[in-house]
Amino acid sequence: MNQFETCDNREELERQYKYLELLKKVVADLKELKNRDITACVETFGCQMNARDSEKISGILKSAGFKVIEDENADLTIYNTCSVRDNANQKVYGRLGRLSTFKKQNPDMKVVLCGCMTQEECVIEKLCTSYGFVDLIFGTHNIYRFAEYLFYVYEGIENKEFDDSDANLYKKGNTIISHWSETKVICENLPIDRKYPYKSGVNIMFGCNNFCTYCIVPYVRGRERSREADEIIKEIENLVKDGVIEVMLLGQNVNSYGKNLENPISFAELLRRVEKIEGLERIRFMTSHPKDLSDELIEVIKNSKKICHHIHLPLQSGSSRILKKMNRVYDKEKYLDLALKIRREIPDISITTDIIVGFPCETKEDVDDTIDVIKKVGFDNAFTFIYSKRTGTPAAEMPQVSEEFVKEQFDRVLKCVQETAREQVVKIEGQTLPVLVEEVNKQDESLLTGRLENNTIVHFKGSEDLIGKIVNVKCLECKGFYYFGEMI
Ligand code: 5AD
Ligand code: SF4
Repeated sequence: MNQFETCDNREELERQYKYLELLKKVVADLKELKNRDITACVETFGCQMNARDSEKISGILKSAGFKVIEDENADLTIYNTCSVRDNANQKVYGRLGRLSTFKKQNPDMKVVLCGCMTQEECVIEKLCTSYGFVDLIFGTHNIYRFAEYLFYVYEGIENKEFDDSDANLYKKGNTIISHWSETKVICENLPIDRKYPYKSGVNIMFGCNNFCTYCIVPYVRGRERSREADEIIKEIENLVKDGVIEVMLLGQNVNSYGKNLENPISFAELLRRVEKIEGLERIRFMTSHPKDLSDELIEVIKNSKKICHHIHLPLQSGSSRILKKMNRVYDKEKYLDLALKIRREIPDISITTDIIVGFPCETKEDVDDTIDVIKKVGFDNAFTFIYSKRTGTPAAEMPQVSEEFVKEQFDRVLKCVQETAREQVVKIEGQTLPVLVEEVNKQDESLLTGRLENNTIVHFKGSEDLIGKIVNVKCLECKGFYYFGEMI
């Protein structure tokens, strides 16, 4: 297939392929000079969006001729960062110290930082003043220009090959920086190095317009931009040709997919189109904002043979008072009505969620409401987070609660989540269900690990050649969020 055949932005794409060719030459020369492979390592922090972006980075690296390895002590190390909670930022600063030691031992080593953290100007400043050994900084909007930027790292910023080069590109000390605060451009279809041959994430939209008051994502990922449905379908068709049987449609809020397109289309309609792709067996999506989840979508999931019966529906808080302060646009009753309607319409669906504990002004009574919702919905799993103050978000200016209070409340919520999840997950004990085999179990290599359609993990005995296949497994022993089973 011609690489430009399916493309969201042909001009940008062609330009990046030119830089990729130049980069190939740089890497080939380096290999010859050192008489060995030139290694690169990509370290991913954060969510599925970042994981997908890292596949794009790794795709460029492999095409350019780098040997991609898992050891950070490489010729080129890239941190694809997350900034959703402060501990993610701190982790990166901590790990950078180690990279500076590696760089002292290998002065030719290059260090690159990208992702959500480097969308923040204060982070760029801090990196320039205290981490001057970093060679390149770019963000989330301009990731598709990675080949171009990396070429400058090796050949110098003066060496811009084409007139229309990046106007935001500059050098501070030894660091090359390109910071884009916003973009309308979508540029897909550069090489991608998929982590799994049989499943893949597919970006259907970028950015978020919701501005939940605690969340930094709209500031670092920009406004909502949907990809054209035709482009998405073409990408998935090509993935299927390449052996993929499961796709995860990715967006910060997939339920508002398509609203800003010239010819608007609903997420439910997109799913109907994806479902028709022959050879594709499982369709997942994430994340669904409760405020936009339509009856049409519930109908589509209910009637589909391919869309997995799992929905990730972030609750954040069960208290209407706190939800209002969070700008979530639904209240406790509305969330409960929606979740219970989904359970009624699709009885075997699993519902998972995100919960934040310790949001400003939160009281024990507010947490009681959260626990009430957890019990009434009976989540199959819940990711529980301690609220993290993000500078620049409205919640950072609200009265914060004490650490001691948060810890107590967090433990209460976690205990409740664990109990209700077990009650939910145990319901399928004894059933034989299809499992997509994902990998050899990391702790016990005699076991395989796979996922049920409802996203529950099952470990069972089997041979490695089953990876990527769907097999029937009897769910024997419920261990809380996961099962031990037996292949039938
Ligand atoms: N503090 C804690 N958790 C947060 N999340 C987003 N922002 C914050 C924050 N400032 C959580 C939300 C979201 C998940 C991806 O991360 O629960 O759904
Ligand atoms: Fe953040 Fe809210 Fe957007 Fe999710 S919907 S990314 S929590 S602002």
